[in-house]
Amino acid sequence: MIELPLNTIINSECVAEMKKMPDSCIDLIIADPPYNLSKGGAWKWDNSVELKGMGGNWNKVMQEWDDYSFKAYTAFTNEWLSETQRILKPTGSMWIFGTYHNIGIINVMCQLLEIEIINEVIWYKRNAFPNLAGRRLTASHETILWCNKGGKKREYFFDYEYSKSGDFSYDGLKVPDKQMRTVWDISNNKGKIELVYGKHPTQKPIRILKRMIKLSSKEEDIVLTPFAGSGSECVAAKMTGRKYIGIEMDESYCKLAETRLIHTKENEDSLGKLGLNMSGGASAL
Ligand SMILES: C[S@@+](CC[C@H](N)C(=O)[O-])C[C@H]1O[C@@H](n2cnc3c(N)ncnc32)[C@H](O)[C@@H]1O
Repeated sequence: MIELPLNTIINSECVAEMKKMPDSCIDLIIADPPYNLSKGGAWKWDNSVELKGMGGNWNKVMQEWDDYSFKAYTAFTNEWLSETQRILKPTGSMWIFGTYHNIGIINVMCQLLEIEIINEVIWYKRNAFPNLAGRRLTASHETILWCNKGGKKREYFFDYEYSKSGDFSYDGLKVPDKQMRTVWDISNNKGKIELVYGKHPTQKPIRILKRMIKLSSKEEDIVLTPFAGSGSECVAAKMTGRKYIGIEMDESYCKLAETRLIHTKENEDSLGKLGLNMSGGASAL
């Protein structure tokens, strides 16, 4: 029997690592893949110029791991989605982040593989960085697909009660005790506790990850994240009493994730003070 490397960050390539895992062994997958948007010129905001309400360091995401040809990106999406589909339990599900740069490819690939899309969620970022050139609308959302493995039976877990009556007081669109809708108003600000050990250029806020985990898994379930980065998904899993497996090919990000996890207490609730620490992710000018 193959032992899963629980509560570990694996420093490796995710498709190769998932191939070592047996069929139907994971309860929940949160995938924050390369968006394939690191193209064109680099750009960095001059911090000496004050922009009201926009503290911190802003720069366009420009990473080697985020730059594929269209053909290579499509092939890579097929590879990692096929593996996630295979290792997901029938009772499990998967959340995938993206923007218009990549989410269309992921949506089509899910349909080709017969991975069922349960919902498309719009993550509305009310603190999005303005479009300085005034050449297009201000990009202020990301798209998230919530999917199950596919097949005739819909066995995936959904905590309907939590979705309706959990505490979402930070979300200006969620009406207490009414059904949760597919537009989530969650600021991209990170609490100090999320940034104190170092930063990742596309780090996701713990708050949105905890929401996904609580909506679609139970305590003690196994949460896998194939593109772990700074380990936010694993931190959120530990905070909510789930087991985690993170895969990340960059050694320095693995170290950052491990440091964050050492300092994360199980079932921790506090996110620290939400400050004005915002960084990265500024999109086309
Ligand atoms: C969008 S970031 C994830 C950020 C993460 N959600 C966080 O909050 O820190 C994607 C990460 O996947 C890693 N990565 C890219 N391709 C990979 C692959 N094939 N296998 C494993 N990791 C990969 C990159 O190094 C990067 O850190």
